[in-house]
Amino acid sequence: MGITYFKRYRMEIELRLIPADAPALPADYALLAWSEQMIPLHADAKFRCFCDEMDASVFPCLGSRAGCKRLMTEIAARDGFLPSATWLVQHWPEENRRPEICGTIQGVAESGGYGAIQNVGIAPEHRGRGLGAILVWQSLQGFKQAGLSRVFLEVTAQNTPAVRLYQRIGFRKTKTVYKASEVAYA
Ligand SMILES: CC(C)(COP(=O)(O)OP(=O)(O)OC[C@H]1O[C@@H](n2cnc3c(N)ncnc32)[C@H](O)[C@@H]1OP(=O)(O)O)[C@@H](O)C(=O)NCCC(=O)NCCS
Repeated sequence: MGITYFKRYRMEIELRLIPADAPALPADYALLAWSEQMIPLHADAKFRCFCDEMDASVFPCLGSRAGCKRLMTEIAARDGFLPSATWLVQHWPEENRRPEICGTIQGVAESGGYGAIQNVGIAPEHRGRGLGAILVWQSLQGFKQAGLSRVFLEVTAQNTPAVRLYQRIGFRKTKTVYKASEVAYA
C-alpha cells in the first residue's frame, strides 16, 4: 500500500444562471424523488456507477457495496441533507417488467448559502444519453427551492467526462485541491 495524491477541482455554479427549462428525459426513464426507504437503492446505484471508476481509488468506500451503504446512510443523516436535491433515475422499458435504478445524485446544504453535490453517477450502460445532465439539473432545482444561491462539487481532474459535463452545465473551476488516498500497488 502507498499514499497517492489525486488532483481534484472544486467547481461552482450560481443558481440564478441555470436554465429554467427542464432537459427532456429519454423515453423509458423517470426521475424518482427522495424517501427514507430509498437509502438501499441509492447505495446500490452508487456501487454500480462507481465500482469500476477512478473515484473508487480516491474514495475506497465507493468500491464496495457495504462502503456505499455506509456512505449513503451517513449522507442522509447529515444536518443539511436536502431531499429536494437528491434523486434517482429509473429505467423501465415496456418489455421489461422489472424497473432498474440506473442513476443517483445527493445534495447537502452547507454554510454560506452553498449547496454541495455529493456523488453523481449513471450506470455504465446508460451513459451518453443526457441522463447525467438531467440529474444534475434536477438536483440544482432542488437547491434553488431550498433558497440556496450557489452550488459546488469536487471532481477528480482526470475524470474528463464528469468535468466536461459540469462545464457544459455552467460550473466553473474555482480551486485545485489534492486528496490523499491509500492505494494498493501491483
Ligand atoms: C459523469 C457521468 C455522471 C456522466 O453521465 P452521462 O449520463 O453519461 O452524462 P451525459 O449523457 O449527460 O453526457 C455525457 C456525454 O454524452 C453526450 N450526450 C448527452 N446527451 C446525449 C444524447 N441524447 N445522445 C448522445 N450523446 C449525448 C454529451 O454531450 C456528453 O458528451 P461529452 O462528454 O463529449 O460532452 C457518468 O460518466 C458517470 O457516472 N461516471 C462515473 C461516476 C463518476 O465519475 N461521477 C462523477 C463524480 S464527480
